[in-house]
Amino acid sequence: MNFDDKFIEQLKSKNDIVEVVSAYCNLEQKGGAYWACCPLPGHMEKTPSFCVNQVGQFYKCFGCGRGGDVIRFIQEVESLEFLEAVKLLCDRVGLEMPTFSNVDEQKSKENKQKKERYLAILKDTAHFYVNNLTEEKAPEYIDYLNKRQIDRKTQRAFGIGASLDYTSLPKYLLEKGYSYEDMLSAGVVSYNKERGEYSDFLGKRLIIPIIDSFKNVIAFGGRVLGKTDFAKYKNTSETSLFIKNQCLYNINNLKQAKRVGGKLDFAIMVEGYMDVISLYTAGFDNVVASMGTSLTQMQAKILKRYTDNVVISYDGDAAGQNATIRGLEILRDAGLNVKVIKLPDGLDPDDVIKKHGKSAYEKLISEAKLLIDYKLDVLKSRFDTSTTSGRREFVDSAIKVIREVEKSFEQEELLKQLSQMSGIAYEYLRRDLEKLPNKTVNTQKTQVKEKEKTVNDGTVLAERFVLCALLFKKPYAQISDIESIEFSSWVREETANYIFDKTDNEEDLVPSMLFDIIGSDGAKELNEILTSGDLIFNTDAENRYYNDCVIKLVTDSLNNDINALRSMHDNEMDTKKRRSIVQIIQSKTIKLQNIKTRRIK
Ligand code: CTP
Ligand code: MN
Repeated sequence: MNFDDKFIEQLKSKNDIVEVVSAYCNLEQKGGAYWACCPLPGHMEKTPSFCVNQVGQFYKCFGCGRGGDVIRFIQEVESLEFLEAVKLLCDRVGLEMPTFSNVDEQKSKENKQKKERYLAILKDTAHFYVNNLTEEKAPEYIDYLNKRQIDRKTQRAFGIGASLDYTSLPKYLLEKGYSYEDMLSAGVVSYNKERGEYSDFLGKRLIIPIIDSFKNVIAFGGRVLGKTDFAKYKNTSETSLFIKNQCLYNINNLKQAKRVGGKLDFAIMVEGYMDVISLYTAGFDNVVASMGTSLTQMQAKILKRYTDNVVISYDGDAAGQNATIRGLEILRDAGLNVKVIKLPDGLDPDDVIKKHGKSAYEKLISEAKLLIDYKLDVLKSRFDTSTTSGRREFVDSAIKVIREVEKSFEQEELLKQLSQMSGIAYEYLRRDLEKLPNKTVNTQKTQVKEKEKTVNDGTVLAERFVLCALLFKKPYAQISDIESIEFSSWVREETANYIFDKTDNEEDLVPSMLFDIIGSDGAKELNEILTSGDLIFNTDAENRYYNDCVIKLVTDSLNNDINALRSMHDNEMDTKKRRSIVQIIQSKTIKLQNIKTRRIK
């Protein structure tokens, strides 16, 4: 920046961010911050997730992720360049705009040149990898591709290549005249401090270039050939050109398909590169991959430009199902009609094509389920429906899901399905449904409100704090502490699920990722969770407070369980079953006594 810092400081102190933002939306003060529905272009919402912090003089939207200072806000909201925004703010408070040289123009020119250099490096790197992929130089890679039935034509169409070692790429790029600094910034090379060496970021891997909709190579994915104990896939680092969760793999071909045939009837969304490549080879030109991470609003928005209908085809493992439902809701909220393909357990789309052929996959597409039906399926898989009580629990939760459906003919249809799935007569289910209180408009909000009505503030605060301590890896917080807790809002439950998932997979917790997983509807509550430790962390009381929270929550949930079991016991006729219920009640009662004597570790 060529303005002198003093001037910017003065400009900001005269333009209080709350005052400035107030001109664009209705700010409402809550706690230490101001909240409104996001006024920034391209983001429409019904519940406020845009927040302004007066003390810090910054804003942040937990829905669309944008944030910054007052100048940044004006740039965003008015679609202005930095200089123009400064000018507007000067005019607003009658401050004179300092004269300056054309340094800024120079800067933006430099940035543009930088970007072009990075793109050139990425392109040359892509050629380098492709040229490695020959029978002479890389027989084991050719072998591997043959085994996966990826023929020459497909290899060329996707620009597949190979990295043979760690040193050739930086050497090659240096000879081409690029600096190490630029190679690092483009993401393709890394620097090893100990050895003082530059090396190929994806050394010794099969290379798949990631290409944007303008046909620029913006990053690479690399796959190891054999089995390893480290990651099977690795991407070049995130750069200004490549932010992984804002890209869709194969968007270039999707664009081409749209150019040829107009807006697509539908697109297929898969998880991995190989699924795209395999489906493309089989003749599907409308496939994109989310590249493994959970779907984001940005990805949904991009996809909406190409089609109104999307069929999700994620791997058939149970672990993915929660993530899938959340992803589906993000797609639906972006205005897409969503269907889900049910893949055989353990198979991905690539496996299905290889094992059962194209027509089998086409059949799966034609049988794809609507989001709501899919929810029923997932729900069913969570209960043991071979037992009476399991079936009862399944039906109870399914009816709650059905109640949220807007159209009555769809409700009708679903009740029939549920009747088939559960073996309970339609009339009974209908009666149960009618017994439930009427739903209001927004599903998720209703759930939160309903559930939170029944719990007191203490519970809410305790749930938040316990999650916060786990997310920020406080040494006294153990994941086992929350295993038996039933969280009383969907945001807190999703947060707990995220913690379980990551811990199971031995992956690092990245709290900010939760905003993507939970989406704008839950951003506010998520913010409460993430800030709930602010006043307590790093004080003498934090450990004790955490302990009290866990004791409270576990006690409540055990008491709930015991009450439910008691009524189950009273309604059960079978003596054997009554006896086993009593046993469970006893073991829970013992746990209840133990938790009261829980001591600070
Ligand atoms: N992925 C990643 N990093 C990992 C694992 C996966 O970036 N460590 C991304 C990749 O984009 C990958 C996708 O997640 O394509 C799906 O992963 P996975 O299902 O494990 O891979 P497959 O596509 O089945 O790969 P393959 O068939 O080659 O085993
Ligand atoms: Mn696979």
